[in-house]
Amino acid sequence: MSGSIEVRGLSRVFHTTVRRPGFVGAVRSLVNPERVTKHAVRDITFDVSPGELLALLGPNGAGKSTIIKMLTGILTPTSGEARVAGVVPYRERERNARNIGAVFGQRTQLWWDLPVRESFAILRDIYEVPKAEHAARLEEFDDLLDLSSFWDTRVRHLSLGQRVRSDLAAALLHDPPVVFLDEPTIGMDVVVKEQVREFLRYQVEQRGRTVLLTTHDMTEVERLAERVVLINHGRLVLDGSLDEIRRKFGSTWQVRATLADPHTQVVPLPGIALLRHDGPRVVFGPEESAGPDAPTVHQALKAVIEHYEVTDIALDEADLEDVMRAAYVQAGDL
Ligand SMILES: Nc1ncnc2c1ncn2[C@@H]1O[C@H](COP(=O)(O)OP(=O)(O)OP(=O)(O)O)[C@@H](O)[C@H]1O
Ligand SMILES: [Mg+2]
Repeated sequence: MSGSIEVRGLSRVFHTTVRRPGFVGAVRSLVNPERVTKHAVRDITFDVSPGELLALLGPNGAGKSTIIKMLTGILTPTSGEARVAGVVPYRERERNARNIGAVFGQRTQLWWDLPVRESFAILRDIYEVPKAEHAARLEEFDDLLDLSSFWDTRVRHLSLGQRVRSDLAAALLHDPPVVFLDEPTIGMDVVVKEQVREFLRYQVEQRGRTVLLTTHDMTEVERLAERVVLINHGRLVLDGSLDEIRRKFGSTWQVRATLADPHTQVVPLPGIALLRHDGPRVVFGPEESAGPDAPTVHQALKAVIEHYEVTDIALDEADLEDVMRAAYVQAGDL
């Protein structure tokens, strides 16, 4: 089964009423409610190929969870279309549920009062997973997520990190080709975060699952995502690689080199400006006029080594956190 995700012109509008303050306001709100319209998702189009992990990024309120809710069938779009593994999720919710796993880091899908392992058993029955297959998969998940140390505990007594790991396992027990993860590493300590990232990498690379992930953790994006879709105010701002984000949103980098011969004639290279030149020490940065065509730090490094004989070379790259801050701010003005 092909685990692709296709999103075409997807939009969602919320109609809500606002409550006016005070007693008189409350009465007025009852008689004549003030309606507000919120365009949470506007005309979004993107694809995720089978076996690809895509990070859906954007500031708070950008519309990420609303998109995931439409793709899991929880919400119906106002307009546009989506297909997940060939199924229109909001039209055939149950059929879609068999093809997908979903984790919402903010809330659990498990039974609050039951030990984790009993929740797993109920899910096995719901999805009609053969017993031996279920046991084998549970063992595999235990190896990767270390679940057995707490899986006899009631869900309500788990720590946040334990609970989300249980949710992850629960979402994958029926072996779905497509996985939606809305902030799956929220509140996890650094060790568990790394464990979960390993687990996700394994699910994509070894199991060939398609993953759509949202996160506010840029380290996670760097470790996991090949491609990102950036949204803001419900609109798609960019669909591309991390390199493209770095280029588009004014990533700054520097290549610092020490020349073998301090008398070398130093000239700017294509797209690369000479920022400082002090004896044998030279510093290069992106040519401002090159804009989005400016070379990446790795291309620059290669060019400098090819053109000059250097005894030492180092690079500085703006970290992704800075780049994304710039991207969010600039995208807000678009
Ligand atoms: N059921 C709803 N009724 C009314 N407005 C809603 C509803 N759900 C979401 N919204 C609004 O839609 C917008 C997008 O919300 P959404 O939860 O998709 O954002 P998000 O990108 O997931 O943000 P975060 O990073 O904070 O999780 C927000 O302005 C939110 O207030
Ligand atoms: Mg959200």
